[in-house]
Amino acid sequence: MSIAPRTRLALIGCGLISPAHIRAFGSQKERVELVACCDSRLESAERAVELASTVMRSGDTIEATTDFNAILKDPSITALDLCLPHHIHKEVTLTALRAGKHVLCEKPLALTPEDCDAMAHEARAQNRVLMHGENMRTASNVVVAKQALTAGRVGTIVGIQATYAHWQSEALNRDWRTRPAESGGGHLMDGAIHFVDVLRQLGGEITGVHAMTTQYRPELGAESEDTAALNFRFEGGHFGQLFASHASRGRGASPVVTVFGTEGCISVEPFDGAGSVVLFPHEGEREILLAEHNWQKTFDNEVSHFLDVIRDDVPLYSTPEDGRENIRVVLAAYESAKSGREVSLPKWGGWRR
Ligand SMILES: NC(=O)c1ccc[n+]([C@@H]2O[C@H](COP(=O)([O-])OP(=O)(O)OC[C@H]3O[C@@H](n4cnc5c(N)ncnc54)[C@H](O)[C@@H]3O)[C@@H](O)[C@H]2O)c1
Repeated sequence: MSIAPRTRLALIGCGLISPAHIRAFGSQKERVELVACCDSRLESAERAVELASTVMRSGDTIEATTDFNAILKDPSITALDLCLPHHIHKEVTLTALRAGKHVLCEKPLALTPEDCDAMAHEARAQNRVLMHGENMRTASNVVVAKQALTAGRVGTIVGIQATYAHWQSEALNRDWRTRPAESGGGHLMDGAIHFVDVLRQLGGEITGVHAMTTQYRPELGAESEDTAALNFRFEGGHFGQLFASHASRGRGASPVVTVFGTEGCISVEPFDGAGSVVLFPHEGEREILLAEHNWQKTFDNEVSHFLDVIRDDVPLYSTPEDGRENIRVVLAAYESAKSGREVSLPKWGGWRR
């Protein structure tokens, strides 16, 4: 039996989230070879290589570099994982695709739906994979909840509610994150967008949003919201809500999503913890559908899926269209917060059916 060669990949951007990606490569080290860690700051690339050398195959050589062009020119590197500030996602993705690389790009895919369209178009033109890096798409608890909903375990959905409230550390909220022109907004575009994705996965497409936003922590330096309350309409006719804040202490990252139905409810706790998916049927005992959930595993699954799509041509689960739609919802929320009115999100051609 022949063994397929490992996919040769480079990590571009070695900041805050990169350790989760590096550990995910480690979880797939028999299928992926991490060739280089690239960052405009050499010390960040070196730190990434230090970690990578503890999780990848012993004997692998991993280069720390600031030379993105050399990576682009190396035909043996076929895939890039982009963990970069939001405002450069589009340009770096386009450049990478044109150089013939498959791309996994962290959320939000870009700053506007139009930029996402350009990226998706280029991926098709170059016949390369462009995966929207949304780890909540590959979170086992969201997947399990979705399966239960599809199986009709709560009957007809009547509503869906999500909370994503925590205290954003000052260390995290710096540089490009404090500049809306680069980050695309505040907490909604950076953190809460994960839960826009979860709401869409569990509740279906969003057709209207009414939002209020505010800021409690000007000391973070951000010119935009740290707290938001959103009401949604879904294509299925039900309603939804998201309360998102990074000015709230007490429960750490405390995301909870509840889907309310005519026959029961499902509660999802998207981060670690026992009872991470619980079904509350209208008759009978509550049922734990998934007891354990592991945040790192969401990234392991993400990288594993990216490799499956590149190597085995399996259908992409987290598409550029999903990335586009999450951004469209967040931008509609900003528009609504400004005008004080509900903003409709008309159907467009790209929704998953
Ligand atoms: N999935 C999640 O839970 C999660 C969590 C945090 C961040 N993210 C996403 O990951 C991405 C990166 O966020 P972060 O928190 O790691 O940011 P960060 O600022 O900590 O890291 C970004 C890195 O990119 C480097 N960089 C900037 N421009 C570059 C360039 N042109 N070439 C090479 N390197 C360059 C910076 O030096 C920095 O080290 C963002 O899209 C963010 O939304 C996702």
